Amino acid sequence: MVDSLKRPQEDSLKKADFEEIRPGIKAPASDTILTPRFYTTDFEEMAQMDISINEDELRAILEEFRTDYNRHHFVRDEQFEQSWESIDGETRRLFVEFLERSCTAEFSGFLLYKELGRRLKGKNPVLAECFNLMSRDEARHAGFLNKAMSDFDLQLDLGFLTKSKDYTFFKPKFIFYATYLSEKIGYWRYITIFRHLESHPENCIYPIFRFFENWCQDENRHGDFFSAIMKSQPSILNDWKAKLWCRFFLLSVFATMYLNDLQRKDFYGSIGLDARDYDIHVIRKTNDSSGRVFPVILDVDNPEFVDRLDIAAAANSRIVEIGKSSQPKAVKVLRQVPHIANIGWQMLRLYLMKPIDMAPMREVIH
Ligand SMILES: [Fe+2]
Ligand SMILES: [Fe+2]
Repeated sequence: MVDSLKRPQEDSLKKADFEEIRPGIKAPASDTILTPRFYTTDFEEMAQMDISINEDELRAILEEFRTDYNRHHFVRDEQFEQSWESIDGETRRLFVEFLERSCTAEFSGFLLYKELGRRLKGKNPVLAECFNLMSRDEARHAGFLNKAMSDFDLQLDLGFLTKSKDYTFFKPKFIFYATYLSEKIGYWRYITIFRHLESHPENCIYPIFRFFENWCQDENRHGDFFSAIMKSQPSILNDWKAKLWCRFFLLSVFATMYLNDLQRKDFYGSIGLDARDYDIHVIRKTNDSSGRVFPVILDVDNPEFVDRLDIAAAANSRIVEIGKSSQPKAVKVLRQVPHIANIGWQMLRLYLMKPIDMAPMREVIH
């Protein structure tokens, strides 16, 4: 459906080579295994959840959400009021792509939380209000990013995106693992960029990054909310299946980011960051954060971990290169198969690496 609507515009080709569905409205990037997804879940199961054993913490988080620390934060100031033609060529393309991916990920959170807020209303009031207030935050984040895209003469039609994207169904416990991680990794991504540009202001070529410090606190609070929900459902954290799933989600989230970012290292380069160092830092920090709630975390400091990610990232680059060639589709797929198999193999080996069990460490802390 999206394909039939794609209409290259001469104007956009000149500027950044993007396809538009209407003038100034960018066609959403086509879905691959590495693009941000939209989620749906079993709303009834979530509504029936008994949160009583951790209700105090959840109510405390709800109070924080109600306080709305960032009510006045997302206001475009005079720093945006200039022409951004100076960001051109490949940097411009990478910038728009970064904004689009971030906007889509934020908007995906908005849609899921909004729907959860609606469906849980009257059935599980504490959770319903938390979800509503988180959807408020994500709407601001997505809106701010989409407005930033308009500085580059493009925007996303979020209504169109809502209808055209596929939704992935996850049972509630998988939604919790996945959203907890995406909120925490989002926090570490934003704060790491912010801190880097704070110490290297000459690399801050566009003002949106200055907003990341308060912005990422929203993501941190969202992550804490999911952590509190998981603690209210000990069964999803304390059996052998939980350990296997936590490993799976940690690895999926880390590998997806790594493969995506290494493919776009020029974007990170344009703001003075080394994509690989940046990702390794974000992975370490997110892994450590996860250790406060997950029963296991990954042994990311073992050199084998990054080595295998590097092999997978190189295979991914080959897949992308082959995809860009002008050969017939069947030939391209055949040439891609060994690289896809290689990534699969690396992921399997990474998954089977001995994880770090957090239970004994928590006992020491207690
Ligand atoms: Fe967000
Ligand atoms: Fe968030």
